[in-house]
Amino acid sequence: MEKVKKVVLAYSGGVDTSVCIPYLKNEYGIQEVITFVADLGQGEDLKAIKQKALNSGASEAVVGNLVDKFVERYAFPAIKANALYSEKYPLSTALARPLIAQNLVNIAREMNADAVAHGCTGKGNDQLRFDLAINALGPDLKIITPAREWNMSREEAIAYGEKFGIPAPVSKKSPYSIDVNLLGRSIEAGILEDPMQEPPDDVFSMTSSIENAPNASQDIEITFKNGVPVGIGNDFLTPVEIIKTLNDLAGKHGFGRIDMIEDRVVGIKSREIYEVPGLLLLIQAHKELESLTLNADVIDFKGTVEKKWAQLVYQGFWFGPLKQALDAFISSTQTSVNGKVKVRLHKGNATIIGRVSENNSLYREDLATYSHDDIFNHEYAEGFIYMWGMSNKTWAEINLKNK
Ligand code: ARG
Repeated sequence: MEKVKKVVLAYSGGVDTSVCIPYLKNEYGIQEVITFVADLGQGEDLKAIKQKALNSGASEAVVGNLVDKFVERYAFPAIKANALYSEKYPLSTALARPLIAQNLVNIAREMNADAVAHGCTGKGNDQLRFDLAINALGPDLKIITPAREWNMSREEAIAYGEKFGIPAPVSKKSPYSIDVNLLGRSIEAGILEDPMQEPPDDVFSMTSSIENAPNASQDIEITFKNGVPVGIGNDFLTPVEIIKTLNDLAGKHGFGRIDMIEDRVVGIKSREIYEVPGLLLLIQAHKELESLTLNADVIDFKGTVEKKWAQLVYQGFWFGPLKQALDAFISSTQTSVNGKVKVRLHKGNATIIGRVSENNSLYREDLATYSHDDIFNHEYAEGFIYMWGMSNKTWAEINLKNK
């Protein structure tokens, strides 16, 4: 195989991806390591991270502001899909990976690199999401994954970095493994590895505990157009503003914490804590509006599609033919998902208390009502039930006879 000369590395500024820089140069003999760090709304000092990459030996450090794209092209489709992996996890981390991978491939093209690299270990899901996306977008690019190969403990990695002028982390390392972006936080490891251990308060930073949440409830109204949120209360907001606003509101009321046992693709069960206040609230509200504006058979079948969609995204198939086809189905259902949903936030709960759709509501009061205004013809029910229950009645009669 030809020797790699230039590589684009997905960089976070942490120990592992920092150590990757000298490692790629020294162990793989690569001349140029270009780092890429994505702004996904994680609220970190990206200038400092860029400088750290250069200090660690990167020949160039690229920073990409991907926040808008992340919300519009990744989070919003997930809302349309009501996507929850294992009926719980709204994919906050998983959604970010294909977008980062796409940027790695683009930068590799622009800068004439012959490989891309990432710092994922061999036992997580993120490696799949990176590798499959890179394979789909740049099948000719070589993928280098130092952390899957180097077999160093954290202490050894720090010592390796120190040899090349990468300072050991000064602050005491958090006992947790955390991934953050605008959609939420994922927290693993440390004491959380015991599934019976309640998560201590210090793992959370976007959501209040039930105790600290305000005693007074708060009602909010979310407006959707074509299946995506466009406003809160009387304000029309940008996609990023919507997520931020709902993160703050729902988080303040203690809504959006998830504690689950998750089935990783590599066959391991792991204990995961998430905080995803805005995204989870939007999925619940969106689903509610669909109950008003979609037909029962569409809702039923869409449920199957949603489950598969979430699995595909979790498993790394964002850029794949089935995911693409399911997106087309989902999109075609969303043109009538227009209206408002009213939600009450209180002490960890988001309770739906109302829904309305001016032009697309399939709810008809004249059919549903129990008052005199009822226009439903009750007599037709008898004939309908005669046929509806025919096969069941036949079965029951035969069984009674045979007893
Ligand atoms: N288990 C979650 C997922 O697979 C979160 C992964 C968090 N990633 C990380 N590098 N800490 O999506």
